[in-house]
Amino acid sequence: MKYVATFTITVVTFLVLSGNALAGGDAKAGKATYDSKCKMCHGPDGKGNASLAKTMTTLPDLTAEKTQSKKDAELKKQIVEGSGKMKPVKGLSEQNLTDVVAFIRSLAKA
Ligand code: HEC
Repeated sequence: MKYVATFTITVVTFLVLSGNALAGGDAKAGKATYDSKCKMCHGPDGKGNASLAKTMTTLPDLTAEKTQSKKDAELKKQIVEGSGKMKPVKGLSEQNLTDVVAFIRSLAKA
């Protein structure tokens, strides 16, 4: 009986983990995070908030090749650790990060 329970938990854990890996993040869920934590600087379409761009001259276009060519892990690192004029964004779970990266990827395809 104990063996069956352990086996079931292993299978379920595997399915959940592999399911996440295959889905590669939920862009829809990522949009919610983006709207509340990123949009004020990066703009609704990732190209940068026009009125901020005057003072934040390094504001990148997130849909550009320069950003899109980075690996998911690099983008996540940039988001949680910050760089240059962008401060680290706090309070995001690993799932939030995966989703927000998926959303950034979806902007480039739009
Ligand atoms: C206060 C304004 C501000 C906020 C809020 C902000 N960013 Fe940024 N972000 C910047 C600026 C400015 C840069 C350029 C940093 C530099 O190199 O000077 C940047 C850079 C980036 C980059 C790197 C782009 C590249 O290829 O160099 C990514 C990815 C990014 N931001 C994603 C996000 C995400 C996702 C969020 C929300 C979770 C977010 N940012 C919130 C201002 C902001």
